[in-house]
Parts: sequence; structure tokens; C-alpha cells
Amino acid sequence: MPNLAHGSIVRSTIASGRVTLIDSTAAEKAPGVIAVLTYRNAPKLAYRERHGMTDPSLGERLHVLQDDRVNHQGHPIALVIADTLEQAGYAATLVRVTYAPDAGATDIGKVALILPTQDQTDQGSTLPSDTQRGDPERALASAEVKTDQTYVIPRENHNPIEMHATIAAWDGDRLTLWDKSQWVDGVADEIAAVFGIAAGNVRVVSPFVGGAFGSGLRAWSHVTLAALGARVAGRPVKVMLSRREMYYGTGYRPHTIQRVVLGASRDGRLAAIIHNAYHETSGYEEYTEALLNATRFLHSCSNVYTRDRLARLNVHTPTWMRAPGEASGVFALECAMDELAVALSLDPIELRLRNEPEQDEFKKLPFSSRSTRECYRVAAERFGWSRRGPEPRSMRDGRLLIGWGMATATYPTNFAPASAMARLLPDGTAEVASATSDIGPGTWTSMTQVAADALGLPIERVKFTLGDTRLPATPPQGGSMTVASVGSAVQAACRKVREDALARGGANDLAEAMRRIGQPIEAAVDSKPGDASQRFSMHAFGAVFAEVAVDPDLGQTRVRRIVGAYGAGRIINPKTSRSQCIGGMIGGIGMALMEHSVVDVRNGRVANGNLAEYAVPVHADAPPVMDVTFVDENDPHVNPLGVKGLGEIAIVGVASAIANAIFHATGKRIRELPITPDKLL
Ligand code: MOS
Repeated sequence: MPNLAHGSIVRSTIASGRVTLIDSTAAEKAPGVIAVLTYRNAPKLAYRERHGMTDPSLGERLHVLQDDRVNHQGHPIALVIADTLEQAGYAATLVRVTYAPDAGATDIGKVALILPTQDQTDQGSTLPSDTQRGDPERALASAEVKTDQTYVIPRENHNPIEMHATIAAWDGDRLTLWDKSQWVDGVADEIAAVFGIAAGNVRVVSPFVGGAFGSGLRAWSHVTLAALGARVAGRPVKVMLSRREMYYGTGYRPHTIQRVVLGASRDGRLAAIIHNAYHETSGYEEYTEALLNATRFLHSCSNVYTRDRLARLNVHTPTWMRAPGEASGVFALECAMDELAVALSLDPIELRLRNEPEQDEFKKLPFSSRSTRECYRVAAERFGWSRRGPEPRSMRDGRLLIGWGMATATYPTNFAPASAMARLLPDGTAEVASATSDIGPGTWTSMTQVAADALGLPIERVKFTLGDTRLPATPPQGGSMTVASVGSAVQAACRKVREDALARGGANDLAEAMRRIGQPIEAAVDSKPGDASQRFSMHAFGAVFAEVAVDPDLGQTRVRRIVGAYGAGRIINPKTSRSQCIGGMIGGIGMALMEHSVVDVRNGRVANGNLAEYAVPVHADAPPVMDVTFVDENDPHVNPLGVKGLGEIAIVGVASAIANAIFHATGKRIRELPITPDKLL
């Protein structure tokens, strides 16, 4: 972009307190510097209240450069704008800051837990944070077999390979943002609220996204800073976060501590489930996720208590990370189920089959469809589960200990209002458009398929466009709802324009009709969910099996095979769907064995905020066998396309299957992720 300037953010080195002195004289004199913005000279921003779909419903977003307050380690306290990235980065090192730190709270082990005002359940609804049915304490007291354990998941960061970055350019009072985003409409609304302008004056463009996993669901403060910088500089400004800054400038999966108590009869029927959890959130926003959701319906049990609590810390706000809630909650639940199976000397699949519910016992609604039995059967058969010796340490390959483990997976079927436009051209081709993002699942491809199918045109005659607020509005690309939501709108718009064309052209053949019409015609459709979620409990279900080899001398675990079977409704594209599942499995390997944002409890600093020390799986960590099966599922209730979504369920259960396999290999039950060699020696 011509005349582009670069912004570099100066971040606090304390977790809580005030900035007492900020001296930017040297930075301002540095080569190429255009401006240094701090709370003392930055324009006051409107920060209109706004709680978008991906924002915590309670609390207030982080305000930047508006006052001297420091809320968390890495809080933005200055923006240096210069001609080049290097000049901005260098000048940022010259900004001198003095703080008056206060005690703050950065140690999750030392704060009083608070009751969340409300808690997330599925399909975007919220609940009081304590739920109960039956009398769990009493049922537990008389249960023949019990397990009671605590499971810990550390903070994890999304670490998409593409960094977060924004280019902002003003043209009078109109702003254009080129942003890494999972939700262009959300960014436009957010920045409009921050600057107190009309959302129609903000255009957001984001045609390609190099991975996000949830980190792009909200507009973080660097987007505001880019826009602010561009306004002050009178030039387009680009702000790109460094890898290290991504540990302070975007959200993360919160550190979570969960106690799961199970009681069962000798014959393996669940009598009681108690699931108590707490996790970190910031001082300024109350982030909660559907941590306890699956516990309420995944297995049949008459006596269930779930309770969520929060640790309010001087950290920045956590956010959605692939299968937020379910990935963490199901890890604890499905490890606990494995421990119960061991205590009962019962096969873990058999334990689940004996507790297969007839309906959603929490909502008291029938499942729109539920293929767990079929998933267990198919995945077990493909895995060869019948050859498993039940005793820990009973399977070996030379000196390596081999373990086989399994877990159940589930994720809600989400469906939100979305819009799409379809235009037929006289040459018999079509243009179809919607503002949605494509963060990697293959939305370009699947939407083109849905459109071609609904139009009755060959796929090469359909051009799909996305990632721009000028196109019809969509929900965030998150919550595994894009194909359901945007796909339903695309399908409806394409059907409508086809019908219109055939009627107006007075022909049965679309090409002939368009020739006769001789000019483009278009249809725009807003699609929205009906009342199915009041009549059905709608979720995708799956079963995931893992084989590990543990080196008994080194404590190193290698995942050798993962086999997953999923009932996820209709599969629009088997290749991109399989790719989603493989990505989820590899993400689950990271969660199980590697990922850990190490937070220094004294000051909230992330000690390993880089890809050298925050380990994620690479190709060499991906098992040679990742076997994915989609069981046939025809669900007419979920949405017009009959799809349930796959992006998130793909990671759910993987870490538990691996942890359960490690127990089977070694006889050691590790309840704190990641399962690194030190924990196995
Ligand atoms: Mo997903 S955490 O909704 O990007």
C-alpha cells in the first residue's frame, strides 16, 4: 500500500498498577518517527458499550491509551508510528516508562473464587452457573464404586502460524481495515463502537486467514491502535503483532481446574456425577465457556451437579479456542470415565454403552440425532479394539510400552442468522457472495459446492466471494456454524434466483432462461434458524481412539494412530471434512502432550511466549495413521442443509483418548496436561 506507515506497540512490564511517568522524547526524535501516542496525547475514544456475539456478556473491553491504568502484563501503553517497521520497533524501545505497581492478583492458587454471574451452555445460551438434577451427594454416598479426581489444563495459546495484523486507512470519516479476522462484521461493529462512528463507515476486508482457531473472533486492541494510529498520522498504518505479543495481545484458552466425582453401581450404571470447575478470567471482563455442558447430557445419570467458578486475575481476557468449553470439560469427564471403567474392571466402551441416554436428560428433549453407538462400533472396529489386553503395561513393542485409549466427543450444532446474495449472468455463470471468513476449513470450496448444487450449475460456473463487510452479513466463522448458517443462506439465495430466472425467462433450462432475460438478475436472502432448538437437543457426536508408544526410559510419548468416527450430519465435502478432523486430532496431540503457556505467577508474564518454547505438533509429531470415518446421519431437524459442523468436535476427546492410552501403556494416570516426559518418569 502506498504511503504505508508502521505501528509498534509498547506494552506494560507490570501486571497491575499505574503509569506514573512516560517519556517519549527520545522516541519522537528517532529516525522516521511520525508520532508516539500515549494516554496523555491520544485522542479520547467513544468506547460505546457493545457486547457482540463473541464478547463476554459481562464486563467492559480493554480500553487503550485512555488513562494511566495497567490491567495486565503486556497492556498496551504506547503506540509508536514510523515510516518503517524497523524504525517503529526501534523507537518503541526508547520510550521510558515508570510505574506505580500495586499488588494485583496473578496467582490462580491464591485468589478467592467468585461465582460467575452467568455461565455458558450450548447454542449460545447462558444459565446460572450451578445446575443440579436429582440428589448427587446422596446417590454418591450409596454408590458401590466411586472415583474423585482433579484434572488440570494449563493456559494454551492458539498460535496460528499467521500473526494477527491490521492495516487501517481513513478516507475522511470512512475507515477501511484489512484484518486477520474470523468475523468482518464483528470487527466493523466493534471499531465503530470504539470510535463512536456508524458501522456503515467501517469496511473490513479479510479474504484469507492463515489459521485462527478462535483468536480472530474478537477485534483485539491492536485493531483499535491501527485505526487510531492511521487517524493521527494521516496515513495508512499497519500494526502487526510479534509472536511474543500474541501471548498478551489476543486471547487464550484459560487455565482450568476441574474436579470430577463419579459414582456407579457394580454393574457400571452411573449413579452420580459431580463436576466442579474453575478457570481464570481478567479483571475487566467475565469470560466463561461451556465447560460443564457435555457433563449434563453426554452420559445417562439421574443425579448430576455442575458448578463453575472464576478466578479473577490481572491477566488479559481469555477467549474461545477450538471447541471452547467442550475441549476442556470433556477432557476431564472422559478421563474420569476411563478411571471409573478401570475401577469397575469394565471395558471403557462397554461403560459408555451402559450409560447411553435415551434423550438429553438435562434439557429433557430428544436428540435430533445421536450416533454415539455407531461411532463406538465403527471406530472400535477400524482401530482393532477387540485385540486390546485390558491390563495396563500389558502391550509392548520391543522396549516401548504400548497403550490404547478412547473417549467420546461431542459439540453443539450451532446455527445463526446469515445472509447471502446470488447473481445469475446472461452467460450462464453465477456470482455468489457472503461476508463470511475462511480461516482454513475450506469455506470457499464448500460454499461454491452448495451454490452450484442449488443453482443446478457445474461448479466451474460459480464464483463465490467472501471476507468483506460489503457482502451480505454473516455470523462469526466460529462455533462450527459456518456451513450450517452461511450454507443455508447460500442455498436459499441460489434456489430463489434460479426460480426467478426460470419464471422470468419462461424456460425450463437455466441457460436458456438467462439468454432470454439478457441481463443479470440477483436474489439476496436472510436465513435464520427456526424453533428446532426448542424441540431438540442438537449435537454432533463422535468416538476417538488413540494408540501411544511410551519410552519407559525417556518418558517420551509418541502417538502412533488416531481413529475417529463422527456423526456430524451431512458431509458436504469429505476431503475438507477429513482435513478438519486431522487438524483437530493434531491439535489434540498438542493439547495432550505439548501445549502450555507457562505463566509466571509472580507477575503474569508468559515465560515461553515464542514457538521455540511453546511446543506445538509439527509434521514429525503427526501419527502416520489418522483414520476418519463419518457415519451416515440424515438429520432433517438441524438446518436446511442437515449439517452439524465439524471444526470443533474434531479436537474434542482427543486429549482424553491419549491420556487414557498413556495410562493403559504405563499404569500412570496423569491428570495435568500436557503429559510431558517429566510426569512419566
Ligand atoms: Mo472457534 S473457537 O469458534 O474459532
